Amino acid sequence: MTFNEPWSKKHKKVTSETPFSLSNSFAQPLNSAELIKMAQDRGDNDIVEQFQNHSLEYTPNGGSLDLRQEIANFYGPDINADNIVVFTGAQVALQTAAMALLNNDSHSIVFSPCYQSVQQAPAHAGSQVTEIRLVAENGWQIDPEMVEAAIQENTKYIVINEPYNPAGTLMSHELQKQLKDIAEKNNLHFLSDEVYRLLEHDEKDRLTPMADLYEKGISAGTLSKPWGGCGITIGWLALQDLELRQKLIDVQYFGTSCPSRASEIQAIMTLRASDIIVERNLKIIRKNVDLLDKFFENYADLFEWIRPKAGAIAFVKFKGPLTSDQLGEALAKSGISIKPAYVFSDDHSGFSDYFRIGYGEEKMPKALAALIDFVEEHKQAWRA
Ligand SMILES: Cc1ncc(COP(=O)(O)O)c(C=O)c1O
Repeated sequence: MTFNEPWSKKHKKVTSETPFSLSNSFAQPLNSAELIKMAQDRGDNDIVEQFQNHSLEYTPNGGSLDLRQEIANFYGPDINADNIVVFTGAQVALQTAAMALLNNDSHSIVFSPCYQSVQQAPAHAGSQVTEIRLVAENGWQIDPEMVEAAIQENTKYIVINEPYNPAGTLMSHELQKQLKDIAEKNNLHFLSDEVYRLLEHDEKDRLTPMADLYEKGISAGTLSKPWGGCGITIGWLALQDLELRQKLIDVQYFGTSCPSRASEIQAIMTLRASDIIVERNLKIIRKNVDLLDKFFENYADLFEWIRPKAGAIAFVKFKGPLTSDQLGEALAKSGISIKPAYVFSDDHSGFSDYFRIGYGEEKMPKALAALIDFVEEHKQAWRA
């Protein structure tokens, strides 16, 4: 197993003290009191009682049944509680899936730039890897011909992330089907990191979960993104393949003894209030995207984006004289954080002028106002 340093480590060092965050990728978090109030408002007093009085013994391997049932409600008829494995966050789920499926003789296909664990979990598990580059010119879309060309005799696994971090873009239903057909024809397991699912800005763009679409499909989800529950630390995998599900639980055994029951109960409370929370978060997101539309209109000669379709993130091109790394350092000195290109790949040579912004939180307009002040201060020099 070879692990690189976390790509976000340097970013965290640079921006540890910044009051204006444009770098978070989650929707607005609730607090515990708000979550409890939502449960009480819908008369769900039993779950509040459980939160206060649950046993602190181990929870079952793979997650408690009541939570797995709540998660299964987000999928179609082929996915029920027995098709879910609960993890202490999606990050752990991605690593565990790779360890359960891959070894040194296997080959995997991943895409870059992307969230580090989506790209690198197969390599961490010892797999040989083909990394396919996504480019802005193609709207950060996957080219199925490149995927077909990358398949080898020992290819076992393909990992995508849709909606896509860092750009907030989304593939079409047709492209999703084409990729699923390629995986099926070649008998590959196909993990789709769908942690931003439900945050489509237009609901008609929402893709079918890979776990519903394909017998060897695996969908990854988490409380962290649509519901802003990052501190709950509950993620999951949904899959039809029950043999693999058992293997996931076996591999998980060596990493996490069990998810905390308090976290599981908070996750249940959140998922039961999903409609209300997601609607509230989409309202914040849409308002913030409107503000960003104006920003990109006003500074079109300096910044450009492919308008995102989902999630709370976008990948922005800086057309001025700095790399995104340099821009990020300068912004951090003014209290503003963004995520430079280096957070999304080992080799960001093709897109070093790109940085990711996040717009899922209520406080985002203040951070955007600080960015606008910064741009006003520097625009003449950049344009010269
Ligand atoms: C694409 C993607 N997958 C997985 C994760 C990890 O999620 P979790 O907080 O549940 O570990 C993140 C978090 O930023 C992410 O962006």
